[in-house]
Amino acid sequence: MGLIELTLPPGIRVPDGLAEGFDRAWATAETKVRALVENHPERFPLYTVDGHWSVDSESWTNWCEGFLGGQLWLLAERTGDPWFRERAEHYSELIEHRKDDRDVHDLGFLFMHTWRRWHEATGDQGKDDVVVHAGRTMAMRFNQEGRYLRSFLAADSLFIDIMMNVGIIFHAAAQTGDPELRRVADEHCLTTRRYLVRGDGSASHEGIFDLETGAFLRQTTQQGFRDDGSWARGQAWALHGFGMAYRYTGDRRYLATAQACADFYIDRTGERLISPNDWEEPSPERSYESSAAAVAAGGMWQLAGLVDDPVRARHYGEYALRVLGRLCEPEFLASEDAEWEGVLKHGTYHEDKGLGVDESVMWGDYFLLDAIEVVSRSAGQFGGPATDGA
Ligand code: GLY
Repeated sequence: MGLIELTLPPGIRVPDGLAEGFDRAWATAETKVRALVENHPERFPLYTVDGHWSVDSESWTNWCEGFLGGQLWLLAERTGDPWFRERAEHYSELIEHRKDDRDVHDLGFLFMHTWRRWHEATGDQGKDDVVVHAGRTMAMRFNQEGRYLRSFLAADSLFIDIMMNVGIIFHAAAQTGDPELRRVADEHCLTTRRYLVRGDGSASHEGIFDLETGAFLRQTTQQGFRDDGSWARGQAWALHGFGMAYRYTGDRRYLATAQACADFYIDRTGERLISPNDWEEPSPERSYESSAAAVAAGGMWQLAGLVDDPVRARHYGEYALRVLGRLCEPEFLASEDAEWEGVLKHGTYHEDKGLGVDESVMWGDYFLLDAIEVVSRSAGQFGGPATDGA
């Protein structure tokens, strides 16, 4: 089956000034991304330090190299500027060799936002062949005993983040008709749902398995507050990733899990709209983790286009728009700060390791634009907030 299309319910209330906020975000990204590419050609920074992109900082793992190319593709489409298009192709080519990378679980992040966009822009099958190849490589991470795709960290480790990457295997399965690829992707989602998503809809960051028997042992975390905490970005990867798994399969268990994860985000964040790094951390030193909010907003907008109940659908859609509106205010969007080199402020990569804490992070910038692009594309369905060129 093809990807399930989003059908938005009528009557979604659009916050005042949202279209202006979106325009500000595009203009900010155009300036900042162009400067980054000109100042640091062919480099792929993950996070800023005091607002300046750091090209040689510790990365922990190499998972972000698709997000700059992804922004270039989005800006190429938005602006029609051949410079962005030429750079988008070039930055995609720079990572083509990663289609054989067996060391990371992030091939969806690398290829779905670059080579897949290239295929969509041109219809060139060769571009999608690269994506399918990467999907096959990703499927090699499958642990048969535990029935999960192993994380980059160790064979006994399952990360919630992989839910946002498993789509590339569903995609490869759909393109090739290979039932083994589809089995691997489905088993991974069901294992993640069973062991990493809790009864209250919160997501654990990591699960540890017994390598001999495949038995699940315990929940842990790498980037959250503690092992039984609720790391916000993992929550966002889960709610967006399970929604995407539903779009690939039509399996309603995935939709129900995505909704449970979204409900947890909304219940725990409420009117603040932007999550902290981990909801269980008492009195967190930093109030916000904006990249989680950007990912969650895109995931909630997706849910608004998928759930049957129009009241629930509007609830997700309106919350997503409010999150995006907040992220487009100058407290988060670096629109009024010429010195700040990233797009979205107040993101965090790895608090415990002290990497990219309260900074711009490359995926935060990407997922903000991605969500704005998807919302703007569906604008005709609910009468706003269309922006020029959207
Ligand atoms: N490791 C992926 C993330 O920081 O979300």
